[in-house]
Amino acid sequence: MDGDGGGVTGDGVSLYRGLVTTRAIRRYTDEPVPDEVLRDILFAATRAPSGSNRQPFRFVVLTDGPVAQRAKALIGTGARRFWAAKREADGYDRGSGSQADSPKARLARTMQDYVDQYEHVPVLVLACYVPYRNHTAASDGASLYPACQNLLLAARALGYGGVMTGWQFAADDELHRLLGMPEEVQIMATITLGRPQGAHGPVRRRPLPELVFGERWGEAPPWAVDPEGAAFTAAGPPAPSA
Ligand SMILES: Cc1cc2nc3c(=O)[nH]c(=O)nc-3n(C[C@H](O)[C@H](O)[C@H](O)COP(=O)(O)O)c2cc1C
Repeated sequence: MDGDGGGVTGDGVSLYRGLVTTRAIRRYTDEPVPDEVLRDILFAATRAPSGSNRQPFRFVVLTDGPVAQRAKALIGTGARRFWAAKREADGYDRGSGSQADSPKARLARTMQDYVDQYEHVPVLVLACYVPYRNHTAASDGASLYPACQNLLLAARALGYGGVMTGWQFAADDELHRLLGMPEEVQIMATITLGRPQGAHGPVRRRPLPELVFGERWGEAPPWAVDPEGAAFTAAGPPAPSA
């Protein structure tokens, strides 16, 4: 076991290695994602667990047709508005953000490119929740997110990458109309996918003992030790992140 990031483009990574190295990928090459790859990624998504195995998730997969272009434009417009407000509110251009090489400034650049290029993302997936009897997304929405994570991990396994966002909210009504989606269906997440472009560092998270406790809240068991090579987020409050 190791904790390094490894490459993000390797095919056939082991399950464990895939789990510990999957990053949020927001930069893609222009390469389209072949239908067989989409099939394999979505197959993995649909194998995910859900409460009582009800499978309340549906995935709308949009690539390059006119409907896909319109959906990307709708979400991209909202994403640009959202990011501009967050960039200002969270001070991405202040403090260390004013140094071009700081993690804050690098993340801001990645985010800006991501929203600016949104119309060109190779694949846009809308993860949707179909209500069941008296269940609602509030009570049963957790049955959808394991499928989203399966989707992202399968993409990683096959040499692709993606990121989940909540940016559909800005265009919810228009997306329902555009896609002929029943009113009761809720779009819960937006996932973009493609072949990763450029280098992506290792996954950084807080150290294991900060997140895993034993018999007393706040106290880590002795085995909760990060593997050699694990990378961490900076100490103190979490780094700004989208
Ligand atoms: C529930 C959820 C909501 C997220 N929302 C956004 C978002 O709105 N915009 C975005 O760019 N990334 C979003 N992300 C991606 C996270 O920012 C990303 O997973 C996190 O910063 C870790 O990134 P890393 O794996 O590259 O270190 C979201 C992820 C989750 C799980």
